[in-house]
Amino acid sequence: MRLLTDNATVVVSGTRIAEELGTSRTEVWRAVQHLRELGVRITGHPATGYQLDKMPDLLLPEILAPMLKGTIFGARVHHYFRTGSTNVAAMQAAAEDEAEGAVFVAEEQTSGRGRGGHSWASAQSQGIYCSAVLRPALPPADTLLLSLLTGIAVAEAVEQTTGMHPDLRWPNDVLLGGKKFCGILIEMNAEPTRVRYVVVGIGVNVNQPSFGGELEPIATSLRMESGREWSRVELTAALLKSLDGWYRRLAQGAPEARANILLTFEERSSFARSRHVRVEEEGGYEGVTEGLDERGFLRVRTDKGQRIVLSGTVRAADER
Ligand code: BTN
Repeated sequence: MRLLTDNATVVVSGTRIAEELGTSRTEVWRAVQHLRELGVRITGHPATGYQLDKMPDLLLPEILAPMLKGTIFGARVHHYFRTGSTNVAAMQAAAEDEAEGAVFVAEEQTSGRGRGGHSWASAQSQGIYCSAVLRPALPPADTLLLSLLTGIAVAEAVEQTTGMHPDLRWPNDVLLGGKKFCGILIEMNAEPTRVRYVVVGIGVNVNQPSFGGELEPIATSLRMESGREWSRVELTAALLKSLDGWYRRLAQGAPEARANILLTFEERSSFARSRHVRVEEEGGYEGVTEGLDERGFLRVRTDKGQRIVLSGTVRAADER
């Protein structure tokens, strides 16, 4: 891939690639076939040489890392054409001492994981599937703030890159036109009072043309909302830059960081206040939202008094 992207406008001979990689032309042909199966458009064959059809929108470390200079995410970008789940890869690496800021991105996930044991549709090169390892010196309860700030970072990045204005649904779904285009899955390893490591997993539907079946009424993509395709590379870089800013302010204990996260979430979310919602928790109940408490939990006024949503799913009461 690197040889082809470095020479994006020219035909690179199979012999030259073989020489530079220290392998045979047959092996080069096999590698090219493999890249084609993974969705990279390459023309040519061993006799004529190979050429990239167009610069691919791949989340390759060579492309992404330089865009992330100055953030905690620039130093270690791990890329997979296909993997089970970037969250699983990141959790395993973190257990083996992977450093804070390591990022795991995939073009396709074969067992993408969602919240509550759901799966996450992860079609090849259409979405962003990205997991980052963090090692915050925070108590486990503060990971809710991490969830909230990740949603804010996604909304900011989408706004900057596409000009669209996403909505946030507590704790961390990101919506456009009332449908979800981004989900966040935070997993961690912690002691009762101390987080060892956290993996922040982010799935963004970018260029999916449609969703069928049970996803159809609830899922959308940036392309479906805007009628055009978007660069996943640009979006991923914007997202990780924004996440870097919000995370660093929280992790460094900036005095106003917590209040800022809560305030910004409330400003950006149509669900945070005065919204009639249904909460799927403890048998389910309805009420009107009354903002976040100081830890980031959602307050809901019901006819039996105020309740705090601890982990349930929140939906607009009029949603099907
Ligand atoms: C949700 O259900 O809303 C959360 C979805 C999280 C999906 C992302 S994609 C990258 C990372 N790897 C996974 O397996 N899941 C998360």
